[in-house]
Amino acid sequence: MSWYLWAMSSTTDLDTLWRPLALGTIEVPNRIMFSAHSPAHGIDRYPGYLAARARGGAGLIVTGAMPVHPTTDLAWFRAWQDGALEDFRTLAGAVHDEGGTLFTQLHHMGLQGMHAQRFDMTSKIVAPSSVPSPVFDVHGHALAEEEIAEIVEHFAQSALTAKEAGMDGVEIHAAHGYLLFSFLSPLTNRRTDGYGGSVENRARFVIEVLRAVRDKVGEDFPVGLKFGMDEAVGPLGFDPATAAETLRVIRGAASFDYVSLSGAAYHNLEHLTTPITSVLDAHIAEQGPLAREVVGELPVFATCAIRTLDRAAEIVASGKVDMVGMVRPQMADPDLVRKGQGGRAAEIRPCVGANQGCWRRVFRGGQVSCTVNPETGRETEWADRFNPVEHPGRVVVVGGGPAGLKAAESAARRGHEVILLERGAALGGQLIAAGSLPRRDTWHRLVDHLKGSLDRLGVDVRLGTEATAESVSALDPDLVVVATGSFYGTDGFSILRPDRMTIPGLETALVLDPEAAALNPASCGRRVLIVDDHGTLPALGLAELLAQGGAEVELITAHPQVGIQLSVISTMDHATIYPRLLRAGVRCTPEATISQVDGSRVSIAGIYGTWERELDGVESVVLLQNRHPRTQLHDELLAAGLAVELIGDAYAPREVDEAILEGASSGLQVMARV
Ligand SMILES: Cc1cc2nc3c(=O)[nH]c(=O)nc-3n(C[C@H](O)[C@H](O)[C@H](O)COP(=O)(O)O)c2cc1C
Ligand code: SF4
Repeated sequence: MSWYLWAMSSTTDLDTLWRPLALGTIEVPNRIMFSAHSPAHGIDRYPGYLAARARGGAGLIVTGAMPVHPTTDLAWFRAWQDGALEDFRTLAGAVHDEGGTLFTQLHHMGLQGMHAQRFDMTSKIVAPSSVPSPVFDVHGHALAEEEIAEIVEHFAQSALTAKEAGMDGVEIHAAHGYLLFSFLSPLTNRRTDGYGGSVENRARFVIEVLRAVRDKVGEDFPVGLKFGMDEAVGPLGFDPATAAETLRVIRGAASFDYVSLSGAAYHNLEHLTTPITSVLDAHIAEQGPLAREVVGELPVFATCAIRTLDRAAEIVASGKVDMVGMVRPQMADPDLVRKGQGGRAAEIRPCVGANQGCWRRVFRGGQVSCTVNPETGRETEWADRFNPVEHPGRVVVVGGGPAGLKAAESAARRGHEVILLERGAALGGQLIAAGSLPRRDTWHRLVDHLKGSLDRLGVDVRLGTEATAESVSALDPDLVVVATGSFYGTDGFSILRPDRMTIPGLETALVLDPEAAALNPASCGRRVLIVDDHGTLPALGLAELLAQGGAEVELITAHPQVGIQLSVISTMDHATIYPRLLRAGVRCTPEATISQVDGSRVSIAGIYGTWERELDGVESVVLLQNRHPRTQLHDELLAAGLAVELIGDAYAPREVDEAILEGASSGLQVMARV
């Protein structure tokens, strides 16, 4: 049973989540944390972002990791600088105004820092030993003892700044492969001095930081420890037994008020911000009991892939941990807790787990928003966006895909009368096919959520209704939002083969588009060739779906790697889905193109012209190469003199993120009759 079906069938009592919890000298009101994460927002956006989650009921909010030293300068907040006091005060004030509790996470990226990409970033990467980062191609400078002492002092001073600014506590980051963790791990700590070798020596840096912080902030200020129990790299790394022993040593030598468990290292980032394509489900919470054995009565938290309140309640009720972190679920719906407490859990907007609008945006140098919730990160600038208007009008939305659904919801929230016309028998558009790929049913959940929202808002949804200029005009709209989407081309044109307009002989084969293939896998036959120009999930997901159904599948791409857009510094799906494809026997061929088709015989060639081979018995070729916007209705409506907005793929084929964002941004100029 998928986690989603499990969640839907679960009857766990949520009340277990709404019990208070003591953290040192303070108490938080419930067991749901908005765990630390850096959205890369500046001081203009970040207070509004945090405040929305406080308003939504999060029991504890921890800021993203605040760098403590110039050798870990990401040009984000700088906890060691004078300006931090004012910034922290602003953040704490915003959360307190909403009745929330805010801790700040203090950290040093160590090896996982990126050397200066901007003029205001540092180029100094430091580590216990001169070893390379597994993700970024940098070696760290092995810290001298005086340099360690300076960083210890910076942690302590930053903690004091947080306290003086009115933060409610601090959390020391010793997980995720960052500097403190890299000292704990025997894989990255090769030192032979007092900071290397034995567990006690490797834990020394963390202990010194915790002691120095406690000395500065006193006993009455909560201090937490973020910790990873499993580096998951085998015997050379930091395994659960080593982790337990290390935690025992730290607990015996320093004072802290909780331990917050998370992924340990950058070797397996997909354990840390797990994409929905992964089979991992609340895996970090499973490490809770081992941590508990060591830390005794101290509260233990766990974050990652705890996707529903039911799952959270089951984990807390089981006693594995005392509190759970739900980060992406609260990016998707800041009111998750309030809705759960108010008996409205069914109204929670689900996180789809595709990592596009959050993780990938940050690693592309951007700032966190959310695919399903474009209000995320725009809380301040969009504060009034959905307020009811003084003079409501009638808005007709054409198209029931993500852009149209969001446009209808947004217009209805503003108080307009909304009619949504969808020519198909069901809502969802391209999300119907996307959600039928393995472990992607969250797209269907999103559609269900939007349907429920339209119901509650009283939107008049008309399925099976083909819109024409006449039929739309007859509805007498003040605005028509055209969200008619796009369709895949099957003409064989590829922008990656600019030397030709099509694939020679393509007309002799059965050519399918990926949506048709996903919705009817049997139509593809037993031997399928998939050609992918995008490097994103649809091609890999389709290959997995077809292989699961028993087809023999080859996936080729002109890119240097199959699924090139899915790396750990993008959506992270590559690490989860690619091994499954290989195990399922899918042949993945990068740097390849079709040179010729002759019925069921297809010639595949290397893009540099160094090899060619024949594939016989191919029953279908699925092309993911180009898409075309459906714009005809838009043009006709304009010609008919109606006020029209063109959004989503019908404007230009892109991803669902843009479709939903444009849906939320549409209908701002409804010229209602007064
Ligand atoms: C954009 C982004 C930034 C993150 N930054 C941090 C961070 O600064 N500190 C930290 O401890 N974890 C960070 N994380 C990890 C999250 O705390 C959390 O472990 C992860 O999102 C998985 O939990 P979830 O499944 O509830 O989203 C980050 C996650 C995301 C998506
Ligand atoms: S962008 Fe996607 S994965 Fe990230 S929080 Fe939003 S829905 Fe979840």
